[in-house]
Amino acid sequence: MRRSGGRARAAGADGGAAVTEPVDLRVADLHPAVDDPALNSMNFLNEVAQHYPDAVSLAAGRPYEEFFDVAALHRHLETFRRHLADDLGQSPEQVHRTLFQYGRTKGVVHHLVARNLAVDEDITVDPEAIVVTVGCQEAMFLVLRALRADPRDVLLAVAPTYVGLTGAARLLDLPVRPVAGGPAGVDLADLREQVRRARAAGLRPRACYVMPDFANPSGTSIGLADRRRLLDLAAEEDLLLLEDNPYGLFPAGDAGRLPTLKALDTGRRVVYLGSFAKTVLPGARVGYVVADQRVAGSDGAVGLLADQLAKIKSMVTVNTSAIAQAVVGGALLEHGCSLVAATARERAAYGRNLRHLVDGLTRRFPPDASAVRWKVPAGGFFVVVTVPFAVDDALLHRSAREYGLLWTPMAHFYDDGAPVDALRLSVSAVTPEQIDLGLDRLAALVADETARRGAAAAVG
Ligand SMILES: Cc1ncc(COP(=O)(O)O)c(C=O)c1O
Repeated sequence: MRRSGGRARAAGADGGAAVTEPVDLRVADLHPAVDDPALNSMNFLNEVAQHYPDAVSLAAGRPYEEFFDVAALHRHLETFRRHLADDLGQSPEQVHRTLFQYGRTKGVVHHLVARNLAVDEDITVDPEAIVVTVGCQEAMFLVLRALRADPRDVLLAVAPTYVGLTGAARLLDLPVRPVAGGPAGVDLADLREQVRRARAAGLRPRACYVMPDFANPSGTSIGLADRRRLLDLAAEEDLLLLEDNPYGLFPAGDAGRLPTLKALDTGRRVVYLGSFAKTVLPGARVGYVVADQRVAGSDGAVGLLADQLAKIKSMVTVNTSAIAQAVVGGALLEHGCSLVAATARERAAYGRNLRHLVDGLTRRFPPDASAVRWKVPAGGFFVVVTVPFAVDDALLHRSAREYGLLWTPMAHFYDDGAPVDALRLSVSAVTPEQIDLGLDRLAALVADETARRGAAAAVG
């Protein structure tokens, strides 16, 4: 390695004392994305959490850890092994190869994913149109890589936007242009306006990223009529929709589930992104993409977008871990490929927590006596709380240090660096008792911060 020498200043995660160290490379000489706020966001939030391990975390959008079961891992593996032998007729040698060797790029549980989509989502899809990926994160990366063909290409994304999507787009030099989300989950007039504005500027909007069910971070869902209108608009404007759906199986209480865009899609407008992180286990790192769009080759032959994504995947992760797929495959098989059936306990717990959080907010911030506001989501993990002051990373540090409470500043989900007066609370990884404690601490922080701002304004 060539050593460039020189010295640079480095600061601790909490802005601690700067030190001078010899350096070999400079961030300025690496891909610009590595120094982008979108890529720093997850690291920053993880570092804060590690720095304050005893804080109550209403920040983490992780599944509840008490549901994890080591014995189930072994059982799922064995269930999948038997499926290979008994249902697919694989010889012992073939079973060994499937489980132990490098494997099919598009995955070995694609047929079970297709069955799951048919059973739970009423989506009919050729298993060949599915690529099983290393989490949904890789699925997003592959799709954006394939779509970004020209410097004029841009991605539209409903804002606020999941930071993993924004970060992946940055790595691929694909600018993201926000589309207003609003109370309906997507502002269709703004979407049309953004498409036209981009085209008028000589740009090519390749797709719009959208999360119709219990979105991260907004918690908002798109109603049925707007789902249909969104598909119509996509057809009129010749736009692909990237539908991300990690939380759709978690409606709260009696709230039902709406058909996904992909289930309503009759024109192959929707590329569907799936994750088993919240429904089976995140440690397996298994997700998938349904890409049934027909792609014409330079020789005139027509294939599936999934096959183009598989070529990219073969150069990124080669194939998704067969062991991880086997665990997920076994979990699917044990529930007739229905994750609705498999996640009844999780749905009840997350729904109970969401109600508990919303009731707790109402008690601590009564609407007639407080400027704190929130919208009640119909499900999912997240509630966005608007407060009467800007919420930034410094306030998160203070909340962690002085109040023992973690949450996520909403500014992390917008791309323009403008101050945002809201924070995201998550209910998935905590108990109702921890929610109570966290909300008591939030109420104290909000009172303190409101008083400080009031005092500063009086002095100013
Ligand atoms: C909206 C959204 N999309 C994608 C992902 C990533 O999913 P995976 O863990 O399968 O990569 C997450 C994870 O939290 C998410 O919230």
